[in-house]
Amino acid sequence: MTAIGGYVAPTTESDALGVHSLDQFVLTVPDASVAEDFYGNFGLDVKRDGQALSIKTFGHEHRWGSVVEGSRAKALHHLSFGCYAEDLPRLKARIEDAGVKLIDPPPGFESNGFWFRNHEGVLMEVKVGPKVSPDHKAVSEWITVGPGVAAATTREKSGLVRPRRLSHVLIFTSDIDASIKFYERTIGLRLSDRASDIVAFMHGIHGSDHHLLALVKSSAPGFHHCSWDVASVQDIGLGAMRMADKGWEKGWGLGRHVLGSNYFHYVMDPWGSFSEYSCDIDYIPKEDRWPAADHKPEDSFYLWGPVVPREFTINPEAGEV
Ligand SMILES: [Fe+2]
Repeated sequence: MTAIGGYVAPTTESDALGVHSLDQFVLTVPDASVAEDFYGNFGLDVKRDGQALSIKTFGHEHRWGSVVEGSRAKALHHLSFGCYAEDLPRLKARIEDAGVKLIDPPPGFESNGFWFRNHEGVLMEVKVGPKVSPDHKAVSEWITVGPGVAAATTREKSGLVRPRRLSHVLIFTSDIDASIKFYERTIGLRLSDRASDIVAFMHGIHGSDHHLLALVKSSAPGFHHCSWDVASVQDIGLGAMRMADKGWEKGWGLGRHVLGSNYFHYVMDPWGSFSEYSCDIDYIPKEDRWPAADHKPEDSFYLWGPVVPREFTINPEAGEV
């Protein structure tokens, strides 16, 4: 069991207050067995847990995601954020002071934390938990060999790609500015970068990836993608190839983002949202004030990669097809 202690103070300001991690994302879907097949082939450790699926990464005990069966269409059920025990009462007081009403937990999700809805009605939880956002930039690998030796293996011997951890989720919002303000004044996230009123990226003050929560404009809330850290660009390619072999061919990649800098390949999931293989994302140490900037949308989405497919910008939860 990972220790919940180990407070890592934010050092940019002595009175700074904020969550340290995106603890878990929870989706509802019509058929959990479809999710089991998709996330299992993606390389995640998926297990049945009563009416739900638990999604972990192999070799890591944290539950990064859950899928609950029962809805007519896929929907974002809630996002859960982790904080230090010392900060829970202060965060609760600040959220209530901001005029946000606390509510009862949904059945089956009782916890040590508290629950509320964001400014658009999306269910959120803050609870005490281990800091699962990284304390350092993740190490990426470039595997090469000397002359006279073949570097690539055969497909048969290549094995399964196993993501190391959840990096972030990206959700739709109808108002980027209102969302940035909400997450700043409630759970203490900070803006990393944005591109006009189209997309924004937010990080944790105790040290996290360039974004643990990202926001993209739509007509309504919804879940766009979950992003999984892998060790190398090679793993991104192998993962994408395996998913294509299993019938999950649609997606976008290989490419490299500008904001966040990560290499990516997105695989379209069974419900029109995405799961991302990500490598070498930028890291924001707790000591740093990232120079949050507003970038030109046309010059900040991706540095290189294939043309963006139309379905990448669709929000099925808003009824878009
Ligand atoms: Fe992403």
